[in-house]
Amino acid sequence: MNSTITTIHAREILDSRGNPTVEVDLCTSAGTRARAACPSGASTGIHEAVELRDNDNTRFLGKGVRNAVSNIQDRIAPLLSGMDVSDQEGIDKALIEQDGTKNKGNLGANAILTISMAVARAAAADAKVPLWKFLGKGPYLLPVPCMNVINGGAHANWQGADFQEYMIAPVGATSFGEALRWGCETYQTLKGVLKKKGASVGVGDEGGFAPVVSSNEEPLILIISAIEEAGYTPGTDIGIALDPASSEFFSDGKYRLLTEKSDLSSGEMIDRYADLVRSYPILSIEDGLGQDDWEGWKELTARIGKNVQIVGDDLFVTNALRIQKGIKDHSANAVLIKLNQIGTVTETIQAVRMAQDAHWKAMVSHRSGETSDSFIADLSVALGTGQIKSGAPCRGERVEKYNQLLRIEEDLGSESRYAGRSAF
Ligand code: PGA
Ligand code: ZN
Repeated sequence: MNSTITTIHAREILDSRGNPTVEVDLCTSAGTRARAACPSGASTGIHEAVELRDNDNTRFLGKGVRNAVSNIQDRIAPLLSGMDVSDQEGIDKALIEQDGTKNKGNLGANAILTISMAVARAAAADAKVPLWKFLGKGPYLLPVPCMNVINGGAHANWQGADFQEYMIAPVGATSFGEALRWGCETYQTLKGVLKKKGASVGVGDEGGFAPVVSSNEEPLILIISAIEEAGYTPGTDIGIALDPASSEFFSDGKYRLLTEKSDLSSGEMIDRYADLVRSYPILSIEDGLGQDDWEGWKELTARIGKNVQIVGDDLFVTNALRIQKGIKDHSANAVLIKLNQIGTVTETIQAVRMAQDAHWKAMVSHRSGETSDSFIADLSVALGTGQIKSGAPCRGERVEKYNQLLRIEEDLGSESRYAGRSAF
C-alpha cells in the first residue's frame, strides 16, 4: 500500500542572514517524518517566483513569513492530506493549481517549495532509498564544487568588488573529496595572501573573503597567487568561475562599475569579459549581462561561448519558458538551477532536463540566504549536473552541502564518478 501524507506542520525559522524563512515537517502514514527548509536570495532576479513576506514592520523589519506559514497550515495541509506521497508531480500540480498564479504569488513560492522538498524527502525515506537515488535515475555524478572564495557586490555590502562571486573549480581532481580538499587548501592560502597584503579577511554572505579592491580584476590576481602558492596549477588543476550578477550594477542602460569608476555599455562589458577570459583560466561566467539584455547575451555567447560556459541565472530564473527562449536564441549555453526561483521540485527537474536535452550544462546552486538543508547536494548528484555552487568552504550552511556530497561519495563507493573537467 502506498504511503500517504498525514500531517504537515510549518514554522518560521531563521536563515543564515538572520532573516525568517519557512521550515516544514511532513509526516506520512508509513511513520516517516521529513523536514525541509527554504533558502532566500539577496540579488534576486525580477522574474523569480514570489517569496512571500509579511511586510509587517512590527516584526523582523517586515521580513516575517507568518503568512506563508499559515498558507501551509490552512490551505496546503488540507489539500495534500491523504495524497500519495510518492506522487511528486501530482502534488506539485495540485500546489500550482491551488496557487492559481503564474509566479506563485498567492500561496508564496517559499510555502510551496518547502512542502515540495519535504514531499520528496518523505517519499525517499518511505521508499528506503537516499534522496540522491530517489530524485533521478542516474548516471549519478559527483559535481565539481564551485567555491565562492571572494564575495563582492550585494553579498559584501558593496564594499568590495562589483562582481558578486569569484569561484574556484577544482576540475583536475580525481574525486569530489579531493576537489574539496584542493579548494579548502586554496581558500586557506588565499586568507594568507590577503593578510600579507593587509586586506580584510572577514567573510561575506557566502563565506568568501570580502576585501576592498581597486578593480574587478584584482580578485583574479589574488586567487591565481593562492592557487599557485597552495601547490596547484591554475587552469589545469583549478579553474575559475565568475558570477558578476550584473543586473545588480545595471541601471539606465549602463553597467556601472563602482570600484573602477566606469560606466560600460553592453558591448563594452562583452569586450571586458573577452579580455578577462584571454588572461585568466575562466571556465564559466554567470549573469555577465543583465536579466533582460537578451541581445547582449546572444552576442556574448557568440563571442566567447565556444570556450567558456555562459550561465543564465537571473536571465532564466529556472523557468522553462525563459530557458526555452534562451535555447532557441542561443542566449547562453548553461543554466543556473535554484529551486526557489521556480518553486517546485518537479519544475526544477524539468528545467534541468530541458537544458540537458539541448546539450546545455546546468549548475545547481544555493542562495545567499541558506539553512542547513542540503537538498541541493542530492539533487546535483541525482540529475548528473556535474556542477554545484554552495559558497566557500566556510560557514555551516555552506559546508553542509559539501559535507553531504562527501557522504554521498562514500555511499557510492567504487561506483562513484567525479565530473571533473567534463562538467564544463
Ligand atoms: P542570491 O545570489 O542568492 O543572493 O540571489 C546567488 C546568485 O546570484 O547566484
Ligand atoms: Zn547568480
